Amino acid sequence: MKYADRLVRYEDLVPCLNAFIDTRTPGSEKKENFTVIGPGVSENPDQHVHIGIPHGFNIGGARQPPGCLNSQHSHLTSEVFLVHSGTWAFRSGARATDGEIILREGDVISLPTNIFRGFENIGEDTGYLFAILGGDDPGRVLWAPDVFGLAEEYGLILLEDGSLVDTTLGQEVPLGKSPMPLTTREQVEQHRVVSSQDMPGIVIRSPDYAWSSDTALSRFVGVQEAPLLGPANEAESIAAGTLDWPHEFVFRALRLDPGAKIPPHRRSEEEVIFVLKGELGMCVDREKLTLGRGDTFTTPIGSERLFWNDSQQPCVVYVTRRGDQPTEPNFL
Ligand SMILES: [Fe+2]
Repeated sequence: MKYADRLVRYEDLVPCLNAFIDTRTPGSEKKENFTVIGPGVSENPDQHVHIGIPHGFNIGGARQPPGCLNSQHSHLTSEVFLVHSGTWAFRSGARATDGEIILREGDVISLPTNIFRGFENIGEDTGYLFAILGGDDPGRVLWAPDVFGLAEEYGLILLEDGSLVDTTLGQEVPLGKSPMPLTTREQVEQHRVVSSQDMPGIVIRSPDYAWSSDTALSRFVGVQEAPLLGPANEAESIAAGTLDWPHEFVFRALRLDPGAKIPPHRRSEEEVIFVLKGELGMCVDREKLTLGRGDTFTTPIGSERLFWNDSQQPCVVYVTRRGDQPTEPNFL
């Protein structure tokens, strides 16, 4: 297939079990991290990056069994999660005690900078989160102070350059390198307090999507589009997202009922498609492919693409594109 290097099937995701400082800490040790479109923020240079093409944002994933925790941390860019499967508690604050919200399939949370966040799979099955981090280089993770001590207790030391030393493998801190300084109280105090009452302000619930049949892409029979993140865009005839502040990328949901089609068009940005439900038929530069649940495909800039749903079930996919005001689709 011509664009095989732009397709990541859910079943082909290559996990890293020791991507981060907390991956030995009981409760966190079973989390799988994925870098789908890189470079990501992994602290392990062996982390597999599926697609290295710069997009202006990073796409990743976290898969965790019930009870598994992702420790409190913060980023230099915005971080967005879409729940693909499972039931998740998202907690704010350096000690995870400021606020909490429970998210389920199809719910979206957008965390601005300067918020400590962590999340736990509180459901009964393994769950997967689709994640977006802003920028080509999202920088390093800032861990909450408690995370460092626990990590060292279980054999991991984070270095200043962002890499990890695994003392259980006999590794030592290399000469000339220093451990990452503990996150200070001042750094913690620069973070915002987000309470449980504030949390709904950064979340979109799946039943609350503002579906529209009037956008440039959804004016075809059986097609609907919902703006989720980012400001209104006249060129695409799309209203502001429910979370309307600029992210430097837009994130939208697209729903195709059985039999629906979106005719051939081109785009001026890379178009990352992630399937939540059903099957999406696509033709890209005359090459056909079908995306299933959890699959990711990044459509090349300028390529000719068309979409359809020839299954008996509705299909819901998510589209991420660079910029706050991407250009309109050019129908052929
Ligand atoms: Fe994160």
